[in-house]
Amino acid sequence: MSTAKSWQPDSWRKLPIKQQPSYESESALNAVLADIKKMPPLIFVGEVERLKAQLAKAMTGESFVLQGGDCAERFQDCNREAITQKLKIMLQMSVVLCYGLRKPIIRVGRIAGQYAKPRSADLETVDGKEIPVYRGDIINSFEANAEARKPDPNRIRQAYFHSIATLNYIRALTKGGFADLHHPQSWDLKFVSNAPKKIEYERIVHNIQDAIVFMESLGTHEEKLATVEFYTSHEGLLLPLEEAMTQYVPEYDAYYNLGAHTLWIGDRTRQLDGAHIEYFRGIANPLGLKVGPSSDPRDIIAICKALNPRGEAGKVTLISRYGNGKAGKHLPQLIEAMKGTPVVWSIDPMHGNAIKTDAGTKTRNFDDILGEVTESLNIHKTAGSKLGGIHFELTGDDVTECIGGSAGITADELSHNYETYCDPRLNYSQSLEMAFLVSQLMAPGKG
Ligand code: PEP
Ligand code: CO
Repeated sequence: MSTAKSWQPDSWRKLPIKQQPSYESESALNAVLADIKKMPPLIFVGEVERLKAQLAKAMTGESFVLQGGDCAERFQDCNREAITQKLKIMLQMSVVLCYGLRKPIIRVGRIAGQYAKPRSADLETVDGKEIPVYRGDIINSFEANAEARKPDPNRIRQAYFHSIATLNYIRALTKGGFADLHHPQSWDLKFVSNAPKKIEYERIVHNIQDAIVFMESLGTHEEKLATVEFYTSHEGLLLPLEEAMTQYVPEYDAYYNLGAHTLWIGDRTRQLDGAHIEYFRGIANPLGLKVGPSSDPRDIIAICKALNPRGEAGKVTLISRYGNGKAGKHLPQLIEAMKGTPVVWSIDPMHGNAIKTDAGTKTRNFDDILGEVTESLNIHKTAGSKLGGIHFELTGDDVTECIGGSAGITADELSHNYETYCDPRLNYSQSLEMAFLVSQLMAPGKG
């Protein structure tokens, strides 16, 4: 890591870096990056600062973060239906959580830029041949042949335009009335076959609708109920692009990444002396840091200090992802070690819970996901720390990628609609049910 003074958007280039593609033509890459630098940013700095201020409230328990979306966004899903469905499920989950937790929910999508993936191996074997792995639509094609898997810098340009188009439509939906709570989008509870559960979920939805009518009768600002805030995030993995999205903002005398409101650093790229931490320590956006079982609490403190030397509230969110039954071994020490270092505590109950079926399909079990949430929540309660957020891989579509939930998806049914190019996501009904269950676990007065 270089000294604070010597930070520049490109100072990461001198340090060892993980999980990057190697492009055949440096000049082709540079031409794309130069073009992107001339284009307008995706977001405005004021939005980033507003999010940071809201995250400061998640630290004290006055609000709660719901972060969610695809594992890997795909260019082909940049269309009206897919974006609408993603926004709908995130809005419904946030309303359920807001009602259950009795606090404002900060909505953050893994969207409008979640195109780059870290992978555990560089190569995979397809039909007896070794080919490079898929690293996300921003880097190569999912098509399984050596030519299609070559990193193509033009994909970075495409990613920029797909991000712009996605975010533009999100802004239209959230500001134009789609999110209007007077006419909540249809709540689809058909998936619940278990009668007592169905009655319970229907009761919650009914209560929410009742609460809205009550607020209206009190004269709550129409506008407040008609529009919602929605923030974007992605993993800050492909540093040449992140550097191109970085701008100095004189009003704040600071550099910002204006490609997303917040970015997170993956579990595989958080080396204290590596390129990613070097890049991220120089930008003023709020940041997430994924923390898995291989982490050492001493490193995490050092990273948090590097990312947030002034101890700004809301600046860093620690997202623990140990796996169901494993949080007990790691999380209490981390919480203890972090005392005095300001962070928002969040959990990602997805990335520690990947399993393979007998048929070799990558999946996750709904009960493991809920199990890690419950376990982590109990640890935070015991330690006296505040869980300020939750992070899911999900989609608003009826995919069959995760097992379980009230819809009862079995391992044999996964092939019916298995769409993801990377990790398995909760589908519409599993996501909504997860929101019901988390809001029951976290309701005021519980524990
Ligand atoms: C992800 O969130 O998509 C991811 C790869 O997570 P992690 O870095 O926690 O493995
Ligand atoms: Co993932």
